[in-house]
Amino acid sequence: MINKITITAIKADVGSIGGHIKPDEDMKQSILTFLRESEEGKLLIDFRVQSVGDDIAIIMTHREGENSSDIHGLAWKAFLIATDVAKAKGLYGAGQDLLKDSFSGNLKGMGPAVAEMEIEERIGETIVCFQADKTEPGAYNLPTYLAFADPMHNTGLMLSPKMKDGFTFEIIDVENTKEDEVIRLNTPEDIYDIVTLLRNNHRYIVEKVYSRTTGEVAAATCTTRLSLIAGKYVGKDDPIMMVRAQGAFPATGEILSPYTIAHYVAGFMRGSHIGPLTPVSVNTGVSFFDGPPIVSAVAFNIKDGKFTSFMDCFANQFWAGVREKAYKKAIAIREQGWSGPAMLEDSELEYGGITERLGRLKAKFYIREVSKTKVQGETK
Ligand code: F6R
Ligand code: MG
Ligand code: MG
Repeated sequence: MINKITITAIKADVGSIGGHIKPDEDMKQSILTFLRESEEGKLLIDFRVQSVGDDIAIIMTHREGENSSDIHGLAWKAFLIATDVAKAKGLYGAGQDLLKDSFSGNLKGMGPAVAEMEIEERIGETIVCFQADKTEPGAYNLPTYLAFADPMHNTGLMLSPKMKDGFTFEIIDVENTKEDEVIRLNTPEDIYDIVTLLRNNHRYIVEKVYSRTTGEVAAATCTTRLSLIAGKYVGKDDPIMMVRAQGAFPATGEILSPYTIAHYVAGFMRGSHIGPLTPVSVNTGVSFFDGPPIVSAVAFNIKDGKFTSFMDCFANQFWAGVREKAYKKAIAIREQGWSGPAMLEDSELEYGGITERLGRLKAKFYIREVSKTKVQGETK
């Protein structure tokens, strides 16, 4: 029997304590209670609620397929309930990511980040779910590429016949906010084309990865860039991603390996800086300069849609050393404040302040008269 299950992970910032630091435990509890006790909650086979930075993530399994308005609507309601808790407690930014007044069938463009994939559940179905805060969806470009295409991190590409045919990358151009403009490229033959796109984390994002051996979906990332849709500052998109592991897919350790780099990504304070993507335990808040950008990862198995317990991948002592490196990288780039690559290019800056200033200053620029240079020997 084909056992089709959809895993949907939805993440939103609906309020936090002490600035954009961390949500309140009661907010998470209110979501759990709602999902457990409501009639709509019965659509779910299983669910978990976690946080990273100031965002709450709901990870769900069900049989409604991708883009189900019932499932998206359920998450929307759950976040409204958590917003009420945040408001009642006077927390900061209550309801921040719920950009629209009412739910209209699909969460795309409404604020919350959504990553989902419908899968035929394998025996021992293994999933890694990444949740990041204070950064953008393109932050996953490099680690996803390295995990699926580079034997420096995934030696299984050489060792395992199940991965020998490589993977198909589906990459979306998020600058087209009207339609889904995507390209499909294959590893290993298209890797130079793939990295030519993926170096631009703001525009081209790996949305899905497929196994070329089995045709199965291997990874799904949320790709919404809300600022492009809204045309104004709405915060960075604080992305979520799911990756299937083991067998025809990279091993969990190969998927985690690129996170040792703590590569520089966009985000950090006011979504306008560069900082190292720092691997942290689940439910970790941010601190230094509203950051640094952080990512947590949980690994788990699914049986008939039911979750096992979740393993907190970056809680292992090994990652303490990576965090030290990331903290040093964070301080190193912050030492140059606003100068050069420490901040994002003009078009990526949030809040509008710099754009406004530049506009005012542009009006004050003037063309200087070129003083005539004297030609030698010239007399008046
Ligand atoms: C970045 C972020 C924070 C805020 C900053 C100012 O994604 O959430 O760095 O941008 O704390 O917040 P507001 O504008 O709410 O005062
Ligand atoms: Mg916030
Ligand atoms: Mg956030």
